[in-house]
Amino acid sequence: MSDKSTSSKTPAATATETPQVSSPPRRIYPIVKYGDPILEKPGAPVKKFDAELEGLVEDMFASMYAAQGVGLAAPQIGKSVRFAVVDVTGGKNPEAKIVLVNPEVTHAEGEVREEEGCLSIPGFRGYVVRPQFVTVKAQNVKGEPFEIRGENLLARAFCHEIDHLNGILFLQHLGMLKRDMIKRKIKKLKKQGEW
Ligand code: NI
Repeated sequence: MSDKSTSSKTPAATATETPQVSSPPRRIYPIVKYGDPILEKPGAPVKKFDAELEGLVEDMFASMYAAQGVGLAAPQIGKSVRFAVVDVTGGKNPEAKIVLVNPEVTHAEGEVREEEGCLSIPGFRGYVVRPQFVTVKAQNVKGEPFEIRGENLLARAFCHEIDHLNGILFLQHLGMLKRDMIKRKIKKLKKQGEW
């Protein structure tokens, strides 16, 4: 868990217990923000598939929903390990919950330029070219290998989250001018104690 300063404006700013129907209360992690070096280093592969990992995955879903995101990678809750959760329905469809442990893109096709954002860089968005289709090879929370194909938003979410596991943020896919502008604004927010 990160103890980075977080804005009181975001619902995920404090660690709280959220009771849910028919499941144990989950821990809502604060989301690590841009500037923390953990976001820019590659995570270590997951080797232990145990109850701790399962609990952490559920906490990640809860933290992602609380922050109204569609994807969240472990480094964003302060854990430098290779797993992420994705749900492009934002919790509306339990079937849409995807856990990617040690994921890798094995095939990519097409290009789509679309605006995207990141829970670790709140308030900023930018156009990023991503593949239209990707195939991802990963393990589930039990360690079983599987393959999943994503199209459009799902493909984008997979690429964005796998980037996180490699220490890459969407800022790195932007043009220099746009990237520098965002970095300047964040620096200013930091100075004002608002980041
Ligand atoms: Ni992100």
